[in-house]
Amino acid sequence: MRQVTVVEHLLLRQKERPLASGRFTRLLNELILSAKIIGREVSRAGLLDVLGGTGEVNVQGEMVQKLDDFANRVIIRRMERAGVLCAMVSEENADVIEIPRQFPTGDYILIFDPLDGSANIDANVSIGTIFGIYRRSSFNDESVSISEILQKGSNQVAAGYIIYGSSTMLVYTAGSGVHGFTLDPSVGEFLLSHPDIKIPEQGKIYSVNEGYASYWDTATQKIVETFRNSHASHGRSYSLRYIGSLVSDFHRNLIYGGIFMYPADARDPKKTTGKLRLMCEAAPMAFIVEQAGGMAIDGIRRILDIEPTELHQRVPLFIGSKADVETVQKMYSDFA
Ligand code: AHG
Ligand code: MN
Ligand code: MN
Repeated sequence: MRQVTVVEHLLLRQKERPLASGRFTRLLNELILSAKIIGREVSRAGLLDVLGGTGEVNVQGEMVQKLDDFANRVIIRRMERAGVLCAMVSEENADVIEIPRQFPTGDYILIFDPLDGSANIDANVSIGTIFGIYRRSSFNDESVSISEILQKGSNQVAAGYIIYGSSTMLVYTAGSGVHGFTLDPSVGEFLLSHPDIKIPEQGKIYSVNEGYASYWDTATQKIVETFRNSHASHGRSYSLRYIGSLVSDFHRNLIYGGIFMYPADARDPKKTTGKLRLMCEAAPMAFIVEQAGGMAIDGIRRILDIEPTELHQRVPLFIGSKADVETVQKMYSDFA
């Protein structure tokens, strides 16, 4: 079998859809190299002094793990030199990351979660990196304004994730299907292993942290109960699977079919949201799932239609197989 690398795949698809420029290839290549460096560190984590926390708390109010910090620094250092970005937003940085003046810039904006699921690192559970790529609305030398960065998810040019699991995989979309590449460590390349991934129309898995059930409103409790008791109502059982790494939970459900839920809960002062972040987590995953034939909503609204008002705004997330997400949407609208 001929082995196709990410860049070869991109170039082949470019013939059909001449959207991607050499600059986009450059961007993706730099991200891939960052992922390889992070993946190497993750795979040797137990041997290096990289387990545990840095002792700091990030803008999200969460403990920063040493590998969070490492992954964040690798991505920023590589990507700021790539000559294709005008700004970055990281889950770990409170403000927009500007490109230092000495480096050339471009019109792409990179939004990322350097290490997702990092509370799992010390237990050797699969974790990941999530990214979304946008373009600024005007191409000029002035520094990018916040309003150019706060774009709705449907404006993404590409989105993807890298999963550091039993193998390391890159899954991405540039708007024409979702493609998965597995890192072959013997040649150091991501090779096409999962072309044109489609999520099953209906799944058999629901993924949610049921330990928080007492924080949910009645509608949410009923919705989760519907999946839990589906055998009684629909004659088919769902399995509960919850890793606690969005990338890993999402990836499993993408392959097998299912729904991942992180609802709003009463720990939020306004009770309107959960833990996940719109721009660096929900929007990239929503772009991927839609390209794979699935759906992503905040309960009612399509995630990709939400206009962000803040860089680190949070959003409830229901994402996965179309029929399962529609069940949730219908139940919330019946309760409204
Ligand atoms: P991060 O490690 O980037 O802060 O994200 C962790 C997220 C996400 O990966 C996962 O789905 C969720 O936290 C799990 O949260 P709970 O522990 O509250 O279930
Ligand atoms: Mn995350
Ligand atoms: Mn993270």
